[in-house]
Amino acid sequence: MIEGERLPLVVLASGRGSNLQAIIDAAADGRLAARIAAVVSDRADALALQRAREAGIFAQALLPRDFPDPAAYDAALAASVGSHRPGLVVLAGFMRIIGGGFVRRFTGRMLNIHPSLLPKYPGLDTHRRVLEAGERETGASVHFVTEAVDAGPLIARARLPVRPGDTAQTLAARVLEFEHLIYPQVIDWFATGRLRMRDGRAWLDGRALDKPIAIRLKHTSQVAAS
Ligand code: GAR
Repeated sequence: MIEGERLPLVVLASGRGSNLQAIIDAAADGRLAARIAAVVSDRADALALQRAREAGIFAQALLPRDFPDPAAYDAALAASVGSHRPGLVVLAGFMRIIGGGFVRRFTGRMLNIHPSLLPKYPGLDTHRRVLEAGERETGASVHFVTEAVDAGPLIARARLPVRPGDTAQTLAARVLEFEHLIYPQVIDWFATGRLRMRDGRAWLDGRALDKPIAIRLKHTSQVAAS
């Protein structure tokens, strides 16, 4: 695939950036019809920025404290992201609520991943809440971003069992492995034109999804969509 055919992505990340790394690796392995044009973070110390630079990707810290209010920050973020002409904006652990103006500008062209079986457990502290509720399974979800936090049209989910003795840390680590498999897969669906958002719904291969695609992970190296 020649570079010009790959969909440009801008990835927004606040922290560790392990999902970003999974996307970088998938692109490098030829598993993704997309290339990362830029990574933007709201934190100067985000490991995600370092990962991007190590991969030769443009990386920028845009800090909220440098702007008078959230609206000014969102406008600057939209200008920065837009300057890279992304075909898709990918939220990968971007832990900031994005304003309506930004969301509207990129509606239908922005994805998020969340470490629960959405619509259950949106927001923060997901794994602790899953354990406290005594859930027997959890998972990861990918959805289109709309103005409601963690609540846009669902695209795909992967399920995994909660094990006796799980802590928020062990659960987070297992869910993360699944995240690293499903996010590049869903991004590739979008990049190859199979996935779109229309009329407030996710469409895959020309069909509106009544429920999210269940991505079954038999082994961590194997991803199958049903
Ligand atoms: C991931 O678990 C991601 O699902 C979560 O933050 C983590 C980022 O990890 N995102 C959210 O909770 C969004 N609501 P990473 O920086 O290693 O990719």
